[in-house]
Amino acid sequence: MTKNFLIYAAPLQGITGRIWRNAHSAVFPGIDAYITPFLRVEHGTIRKNGLKDITPELNSATIIPQILAASPGDTLQLALKCRELGYNEISLNLGCPHPPIALHHKGSGLLQYPNEIKLLFERLCDVEGLKFSIKMRLGYVSADEWRHVIPLFDIINPSFVTVHPRVGRQLYSGDLHMKEFELLLTQTSHKIIYNGDIRSLDDVNRLRERYPRISGVMAGRGLVANPALFCPTLSTRDNLRRFHSLLYNELVSSMEGGEHQILAHLKELWHYFLPSTDRKALKAIKKCNSLQKYNEAVNTALG
Ligand SMILES: Cc1cc2nc3c(=O)[nH]c(=O)nc-3n(C[C@H](O)[C@H](O)[C@H](O)COP(=O)(O)O)c2cc1C
Repeated sequence: MTKNFLIYAAPLQGITGRIWRNAHSAVFPGIDAYITPFLRVEHGTIRKNGLKDITPELNSATIIPQILAASPGDTLQLALKCRELGYNEISLNLGCPHPPIALHHKGSGLLQYPNEIKLLFERLCDVEGLKFSIKMRLGYVSADEWRHVIPLFDIINPSFVTVHPRVGRQLYSGDLHMKEFELLLTQTSHKIIYNGDIRSLDDVNRLRERYPRISGVMAGRGLVANPALFCPTLSTRDNLRRFHSLLYNELVSSMEGGEHQILAHLKELWHYFLPSTDRKALKAIKKCNSLQKYNEAVNTALG
């Protein structure tokens, strides 16, 4: 990878929290920044777990906190909190596809309402000492919604725009709208980062060849599946074991919840982690009901 090509880790709510990020950056260096799962306001207050996740003293990796784009008031509250914690760059989520969020004009749901985005950006661009990047889909219902949104980016002058070329209604699967993505590249001069279905360095190289205009890539599920995605020479059993034990130990020592909560978190990770693991070993991990059984199953899985 050349230095002027940026590599970002995408956020996966419930998986790439600070414990995953700290362990990942310790064992598999080379990520320019980790975007955190989004912070949001619920009933007027910022969710505590989200705040803990971005607490600077608890984070050893370079992170960009993400906030959910919602009403100007809620979004501003989140942005100011991040600034108070010492961050000068924030990722604005215009991509979350989940209906309870999107149908309330938040995340990707906001892409259908350029007027609301304009009001939001006008409110945010006044905040001193904060830069914004944007993480978006092409639309919520239709893959051409971005066309009305992208001219508004000049209001906020984002440091970069990450585009996942699906619409919100598709959730996380289905065809990528690469023609629209290609058109988008010609319609803006902002820095564009590609995100979606990156599983290997070959995928990255193909994207760079086909779209020399992109400034970098962001990987989510592919990076959780293969933490050594961007540094294949470090892809050894020892490193995977080290990564897992860092993650496991930090989880056990910092999780307020009991054994079941820790197990639920670890099983969520294994939903994506090392998919080519022996099926029997994976099944044993998914079935276990104690940390002792979990450790036995993981010892088998990681050899
Ligand atoms: C379980 C899960 C949680 C996610 N949470 C977030 C989130 O908090 N913020 C965000 O911008 N995207 C979130 N995403 C979307 C990913 O960051 C990414 O854009 C998407 O998975 C496509 O990229 P990938 O194919 O590299 O995974 C989430 C995706 C999944 C599967």
